Amino acid sequence: MSENEDLTFLDDLGLSFAVDRLGQARYPTPMRIGCLTPDDERILYHSDPVIVRRLLDEGRDLPSFERAGPRERLFFDPRGLRAGIVTCGGLCPGINDVIRAIVLSLHFHYGVEAIDGFRYGYEGLIPDYGHKPVALTPARVEMIGNLGGTVLGTSRGKQDVGRMVDTLQAHGVHILFTIGGDGTLRGAGAIAAEIARRGLPIAIIGVPKTIDNDIAFIERSFGFVTATAEARRVIEGAHSEALAVHNGIGLVKLMGRESGFIAAHSSLADSQVNFCLVPEVPFTLPSFLEALRERLVARGHAVIVVAEGAGQHLMGRGDTRDASGNAKPGDIGLFLRQVIIDHFEGLGMPVNLKYIDPSYIIRSLPANAYDSAYGLLLGYNAVHAAMSGRTNMVVGYWNNEYTHVPIPLAVHERKTINPQGWLWNNVLLATGQRLAPPA
Ligand code: F6P
Repeated sequence: MSENEDLTFLDDLGLSFAVDRLGQARYPTPMRIGCLTPDDERILYHSDPVIVRRLLDEGRDLPSFERAGPRERLFFDPRGLRAGIVTCGGLCPGINDVIRAIVLSLHFHYGVEAIDGFRYGYEGLIPDYGHKPVALTPARVEMIGNLGGTVLGTSRGKQDVGRMVDTLQAHGVHILFTIGGDGTLRGAGAIAAEIARRGLPIAIIGVPKTIDNDIAFIERSFGFVTATAEARRVIEGAHSEALAVHNGIGLVKLMGRESGFIAAHSSLADSQVNFCLVPEVPFTLPSFLEALRERLVARGHAVIVVAEGAGQHLMGRGDTRDASGNAKPGDIGLFLRQVIIDHFEGLGMPVNLKYIDPSYIIRSLPANAYDSAYGLLLGYNAVHAAMSGRTNMVVGYWNNEYTHVPIPLAVHERKTINPQGWLWNNVLLATGQRLAPPA
């Protein structure tokens, strides 16, 4: 999905905003709050009134998400209900906050007592691995929000869908919460499809976890703000190091395989960055090296932020993939470090380059206050959605509202920076960089 408001792409792709339901919601909620969310409340996908007017003039429906929130009627009777939680893929700040929120909401809002924490991602649903589930209670999750990582453990990679559903059936699990990114959601979609094929009343609800912030139709995944704030601290360090010496260069590599959101946002957060390199905007080495030389001549120091997926075309690598099937980028940070050192040596212009790769430090931190609160509300809304009988969906956030996003919509493509959009244009304004694209 681009940042452009394209009117036809949803129609063309045949994608729907309709959320699957397991059946009629018949049980009254036990929640005692005044503010329940009516089933027909929706959040518009388009916020530009010009686009809304055009759609209406053309007699088209306005695409919109279901609004998330607690419903008056539940599909599941909370008595005797069993839920499961699984965390998959790379770490991200705030996973434990989401686990905690789900457990507390199930227990205190709905009175659900039995909650299984499946260990080490989807492996935990395959008995052969021998990872026994843990019983999650409010006491067990009380303090976990202060911890980075995931108390359940994680893994990458596909598992046999039929066997995972067998496990859910064998354990008597009625709701499975899957906390993960694109690959996890694809797995969750496959599990939901197998459940539908077997005609089982089991809900599958995702919570968007990826510091790459690349899930389509969701403005922000939890942990992204923490990651950006921490990346900013690292960039500040790189800037101080670069300033302290003659022709100093601070080179920081950040995560972001296909989407450079952390690099772009942290470059805006610390607007000392002179070059921000992201996967979405290819560049030529000669233009980059010449712009770097000009910067050093003019100011005596430079700060470069590079997302791990940037500049892959420069390294001529083959197609290697991780267990999730994601393309594994070559190390652009080490590559640039060497290219820069060699280039300036060749020019007889010595530089003092400090290379910093904080990737795993950033993603394994506990969440900051913003992401703890965000994770809590995503977790609560995941529980509300599940209890109402929604399935095959992920909780989202759009135009300052919590939403229900069908999994097929969320996984149809990765969200990337639009090189013509507001974000990238402001990165260009903040850095002043002008790099030539490859021919
Ligand atoms: O989960 C996304 C992510 O953090 C990416 O930014 C990164 O490329 C990838 O995971 C690396 O994860 P790992 O080294 O655990 O496979």
